[in-house]
This record gives sequence, structure tokens and C-alpha cells, in this order.
Amino acid sequence: MLEELLTKLREITADAEASLAQAKNEGDIDAVKNKTIGRSGAITALSPMMGKLPPESKRDAGKAFNEAKTKIQNALSEARKKLEDSELSDMPAIDVTLPGRKWPLGRKHPLSQTIDECCAIFRRMGFVAVSGPEIEDIWHNFDALNAPLTHPSRDPKDTFYLPDGRLMRTQTSAVQIRTMEKQKPPVRIVSPGRCYRRDTPDATHGVYFHQIEGLYIDKNVSMADLKSTLRQFASEYFGREVKVRMRPSFFPFTEPSLECDFSCVMCGGKGCGVCKNSGWLEIVGAGMVNPKVLENVGYNPEEVQGFAFGFGLERLAMIKHRINDLRIFSDNDLRFLQQF
Ligand code: DAH
Repeated sequence: MLEELLTKLREITADAEASLAQAKNEGDIDAVKNKTIGRSGAITALSPMMGKLPPESKRDAGKAFNEAKTKIQNALSEARKKLEDSELSDMPAIDVTLPGRKWPLGRKHPLSQTIDECCAIFRRMGFVAVSGPEIEDIWHNFDALNAPLTHPSRDPKDTFYLPDGRLMRTQTSAVQIRTMEKQKPPVRIVSPGRCYRRDTPDATHGVYFHQIEGLYIDKNVSMADLKSTLRQFASEYFGREVKVRMRPSFFPFTEPSLECDFSCVMCGGKGCGVCKNSGWLEIVGAGMVNPKVLENVGYNPEEVQGFAFGFGLERLAMIKHRINDLRIFSDNDLRFLQQF
């Protein structure tokens, strides 16, 4: 009787261990438990046999029962642990000590940075930044600025006209007119923005480019004010050591007109490839506002006068950052843009 009981216990235990070795999930493990030590399991079912044993065998039988139960319980927890471990190892490893993912921060386009910088310099001299429309009418872009009807810039070969007769502004000077039409003197504005011309694109020309316009109208404004304004700008944008010089020139909307050169920032004025060995860089067109322009906007040239200036922002940025091709500003090449 005892032998029979011990054999059965051994068989059940071995069977349970074998099944647990194959267990693939919680369900398999629970099934083994139920089949063996569960309430209606095989081991539980054997316990009535105990009562039928002779008293001298009961001790051994009890010990064997406990051993079998312990063995199965150990095997069950081992199987559970194995299952847990394998589930964990199937999960992708997470290193909680890694730093968080950084979102790449955008930054301003180099031309926008140039615009901001120029406006800031002029703001410190009392100029307010204003903007005007890129689609203009002939009055603001040409007529009011005193451009003669025969002026070559009016030619459709040079200017983009819209079917309705308006045009893509060729110069920010148009904003001078819009400002003076709206506002009584004194006026002290700068106006950065995009202009359009029918040029064949190359390293220094595009079909659009950016200018900044300046206008200062008040009583007793003189050429000396213009010169000191441009000199102050040159030294703030390029550095103290930069010199300025003025040459007579012609623009329909200024009289007298001049061009303002800055000493070459590359060679310090000695002469190099960038300044074409002249030591000077042509930067600004400027002059005293033509009395005809003041009349066109209803100002009295006997009472007020002023100066205006305008220059290209690409050219300024190209000189400062040593860029040799203007097309790179509109290529959207991150390798270029990320350097700013
Ligand atoms: N509008 C001129 C251009 O497109 C630049 C310019 C020259 C603007 C003289 C001015 C000025 O205000 O006074 O080339």
C-alpha cells in the first residue's frame, strides 16, 4: 500500500515537472497546479489513502506527501519566474537614465536677422520701422517718386506688371510716399522689404531681393544729418573702424543725390577681390528728398525738407558673412541656414 502511494506521488511530481518545463503561459501553469495540488488535483485525491495505511507507515507517507507538494510548489514558482523573465526580455530595453529627446529649435533666416539688426540700429537713432505692400501701383512706385515717364525702370522688360496695371514694387522707396501721404511731418521711418525686378538671376541678382528704405523729414534737416546717420549705421553694423565716403549720383526722388561707400571690411581699405581693388564698397543710395516729391504728397517744401536712403540687404549680409552667391538665401539649404 505504502509503496503504491509513494510511486503514485513520484509519478505525479515527475509529470508536473515535465509539464511545467513546457509551460508557455499562465494558463499552462495554472492547469498543472489544478491537476496536482489543487482542490480536485491528483495529490489531494490521494490523501484518503493515508487513512487506510497501517499506523507504522503513516509517518513516511505524510513525509512523502509534503515533499511532493513542496516540490510541485517550487516547480510552479520557478515556472512563473521563467515566464516573467522571458516576457521582460521580449520588451525593448528602456534606459531611463537617457536624457530626453531634444526638439530641434528653429531660427531666423539670415536675411531676417539682417533686417532685425538694421532696424534695431536705426531704431536707436529714432527711426520707426514700417512696412508697405509688395504689389504697388504706378503712382507710389514711380510717378510720385518723380520718375520720368521715359525712365528705363518703368519698362516691362525690367518690371513685373500685373494684368490690372499694378506692379510688383521695384523699390521700397514706394513706402516713403505711402508714409508721407498718411502722416504729417516730422517723419522718421525705415522700411525693410522685398522688391522685384526682371533680372536674369546670377550670383548678385535675383528676380526678388530685399531693400531697406530710410526717410527723415522735419524742419532744418541737412546733408550733415544724412551723413552722420549713415556713418553711425556703418560703424554699428560693420564696426567702428569703417569709414564712409559720399559721391555725387542721381536719383529722380532726391536732389542732390549721392552714393555712400563704406571702406572695405575685408581688406580694411587696402584693396582686394571683394572691393575690386578700390578699397571701397558701394552700399547706399541716398540724397535730400526732391521738393517735387514733397509736393506730390502735399508737404510744403518751403517748410520741411529731409533725406532718404535705400540699400540692398542681401548685399549687406553677403559682405558681413562673406557669402559669394545671393541665390543661397532662397535655396532653403539647412546646411547653410543652420550656420546662423
Ligand atoms: N530706390 C533706390 C534703388 O532702388 C535706392 C535709393 C536711392 C533709395 C536713393 C533712396 C534714395 O531712398 O534716396 O536703387
